[in-house]
Amino acid sequence: MALWGGRFTQAADQRFKHFNDSLRFDYRLAEQDITGSVAWSKALVTVNVLTREEQQRLEQALVTLLDEVRENPMQILESDAEDIHSWVEGKLIDKVGDLGKKLHTGRSRNDQVATDLKLWCKFQVNELLTAVRAVQRALVETASVHQDVVMPGYTHLQRAQPITFAHWCLAYTEMLARDESRLEDALKRLDVSPLGCGALAGTAYPIDREQLAEWLGFSSATRNSLDSVSDRDHALELMSHASISMMHLSRFAEDMIFFNSGEAGFIELSDKVTSGSSLMPQKKNPDALELIRGKCGRVQGALTGMMMTLKGLPLAYNKDMQEDKEGLFDALDTWLECLHMSCLVLEDIQLNSARCKEAAQQGYANSTELADYLVAKGVPFREAHHIVGEVVVAAIKQGTPLEQLTLEYFKQFSDVIEDDVYPLLSLESCLDKRNAKGGVAREQVAYAIEQARARLA
Ligand code: ARG
Repeated sequence: MALWGGRFTQAADQRFKHFNDSLRFDYRLAEQDITGSVAWSKALVTVNVLTREEQQRLEQALVTLLDEVRENPMQILESDAEDIHSWVEGKLIDKVGDLGKKLHTGRSRNDQVATDLKLWCKFQVNELLTAVRAVQRALVETASVHQDVVMPGYTHLQRAQPITFAHWCLAYTEMLARDESRLEDALKRLDVSPLGCGALAGTAYPIDREQLAEWLGFSSATRNSLDSVSDRDHALELMSHASISMMHLSRFAEDMIFFNSGEAGFIELSDKVTSGSSLMPQKKNPDALELIRGKCGRVQGALTGMMMTLKGLPLAYNKDMQEDKEGLFDALDTWLECLHMSCLVLEDIQLNSARCKEAAQQGYANSTELADYLVAKGVPFREAHHIVGEVVVAAIKQGTPLEQLTLEYFKQFSDVIEDDVYPLLSLESCLDKRNAKGGVAREQVAYAIEQARARLA
């Protein structure tokens, strides 16, 4: 049954009906639509549209419907209702007869859909928060296990300075901590109820919207009805946060794919998250990580798509806005799945600490140490930088790491260099000298692990 037959004499073209209907995707808002309807029925009692007894009958029927939906959400898709709002109302009328037809008094699908979507977003944000924290925990525990594994740190994908695997894990923990705080921040703006704004101008019934908001678990009611029915900032904001976090996860994936490559060989991914080749028997491909990296694109695409849809829309509600759901659902589902998958990937990675260390020792990653050494002996940094550059060129020609050059050899470049240079060129020294806050020194990393654990407890 359509909700709006009276004005029409001709039936809708079937092709238009299919084009217009949104039930095939907005069925996911069933629980929220029912919850919103219960609250609305209570509000209608306060303005004498429903008696207390009528409201109770409606509420009972809605609660039964909620149970049915929870048991089998897919049954909704068997209906040819236009959207989830029509479906719920139709089912309610099936259950309680004409009384069900009173529920939509003073309400519009415009404030209804805005409310449903916000309720759904609030629920989904909590799922995402749990998942974002789980990945951080997995990273911190991985860091803790591998605190002593030294590896090269890169800039421009050139070996730059030695770091530890733990420090690398904690870098991604920081990114996800910011993603977490963005979600929490979004929640604040989301927590405002549009219900009772009617189609656009507000409801004609003197409903206490703050009370209504409270019944639905919102912290307040929105301030302007025109804005309330046409605001989709929450969808954009969550897709934007999803895009940023997916960008983090894609960088995480890319780093790991490289670490797992034959060329680096720093880690080996578990069989549980890799797959084989149909042709090349030796292959074990990092598919989980490649998909995480790849899915970043569709999430970003959903955000861009919705931005374009909303751009230039006149106030207030327009059917264009129905396009908000598929992209949002897909973006948040994808993000959640990638967060879960990131945990799974971290669960049993193997580190080849010997390979990591070997790579850290190559590539003259301790050159900065030699420059700092010269500075300590009174050479101005710019000059020290130049001298070390010359030493490195010569050492590369010889194929010798800095720490294996003889003192006589060093002296050709600077006569301030003495025997005390050697301890400073060791990997341990390279790490532990970086003991200012946030540095790679083992003491700092242990402290960071402790702090992150406390925050995530
Ligand atoms: N299915 C619609 C949506 O998702 C519900 C609101 C429809 N309102 C209307 N006046 N046509 O946006």
